[in-house]
Amino acid sequence: MIRLDDLPYPVFVGRPAPAEIATFIREQGFSHAIVLCDANVALRAKTIARAIGKRTSTLAFPLGERRKTLGTLERVLETLAQRRAERTTLLIGVGGGVATDLFGFAAAIYMRGVPFVAVATSLVAMVDAAVGGKTGVDLRAGKNLAGAFRDPRAVFCDVAALETLPPRAMREGLAELVKHGIIEGDETFSELEELAAHPLPTWPWEKVVADSLRVKAMFVADDRLERGAREILNLGHTFGHALELATAYRLSHGSGVAIGLRAAGLLALRTGRFSQSEHLRVLSLLALLRLPLVTPTRDPRPVLRAMSADKKARDGKLRFVVPRKIGDVEYGVIAPLPSVRAVLNRLREVPGPAEFR
Ligand SMILES: NC(=O)c1ccc[n+]([C@@H]2O[C@H](COP(=O)([O-])OP(=O)(O)OC[C@H]3O[C@@H](n4cnc5c(N)ncnc54)[C@H](O)[C@@H]3O)[C@@H](O)[C@H]2O)c1
Ligand SMILES: [Zn+2]
Repeated sequence: MIRLDDLPYPVFVGRPAPAEIATFIREQGFSHAIVLCDANVALRAKTIARAIGKRTSTLAFPLGERRKTLGTLERVLETLAQRRAERTTLLIGVGGGVATDLFGFAAAIYMRGVPFVAVATSLVAMVDAAVGGKTGVDLRAGKNLAGAFRDPRAVFCDVAALETLPPRAMREGLAELVKHGIIEGDETFSELEELAAHPLPTWPWEKVVADSLRVKAMFVADDRLERGAREILNLGHTFGHALELATAYRLSHGSGVAIGLRAAGLLALRTGRFSQSEHLRVLSLLALLRLPLVTPTRDPRPVLRAMSADKKARDGKLRFVVPRKIGDVEYGVIAPLPSVRAVLNRLREVPGPAEFR
């Protein structure tokens, strides 16, 4: 197992045996724990609970993005109260990004905060959601609108869980891997280029996840409350979020980010940054990973509206994160509206010679 210590809490990446998780938890001095899990990984969660001890119960909840709600949160909190969870009870949240966000939020507010350990079982949770301390649920008005910044005591990324992860959920995480590769630089990016030719089950996941996670951890460690440099992690996300919104979430987050990475590259080219060859490298990698490059939206106006409403827009100006080169990404870039519109129009077509006009 790889242990990362860039953050105030340890992050373990590998194939942790339930006994290893249990040992860590005992070493931390917790006498009582409750395992909360996404029902789709209940078996895995139960083996962890059993390893911790007879008194540790597992509570499974059907999750998925549609259930990342205040209603589910309420059920979790009420169940904890019925089970007489106390201030000193450790909550262990097992599952994908929805599980780590929702159970992490429950831990942040149950009795004004109880300790939390995340066991990430999806690629998105491993390289993104479980680290960084952002927890929360969706509101009807939009995603992740209620939540709290709250660090876990530890994160375990169980790469063995990826073997049962549905391909669609896997692809969601691949988009974030590419994003982290562009931010980190040639070493990580080239490794992804090389791996992309091979089937996903043969990838050295322990290393891939740890390398990707390190990128997020580095920026989060420097900027825990997202006041500055952490914005770099939003590469591809200003366009991505707007595309998700403009399609009423028919476009998944990962697809939005993939198209958004193409958009960031196009914007960079138009504003005199980035090279054509590096933009092509990014496009090729996304395509090899079977991530989309073309937006289903025909009309750029709803996308532009969604961008202006984005919380990252300040004083009415659109700010972007754009690559200067692979390994050198700039944030807070203000782009002229005609350029943004031109990029959105370009996204409607598959990349061809016009990409560089
Ligand atoms: N807090 C943050 O900083 C942050 C960052 C990125 C994403 N997120 C959040 O993460 C969520 C997306 O995460 P996700 O893609 O993991 O979604 P998810 O948690 O819904 O998991 C995707 C699907 O895979 C299933 N699943 C998870 N692990 C499995 C496994 N090992 N085997 C079989 N099935 C498994 C889940 O039940 C679900 O059906 C979004 O809600 C997003 O807002 C948060
Ligand atoms: Zn993302």
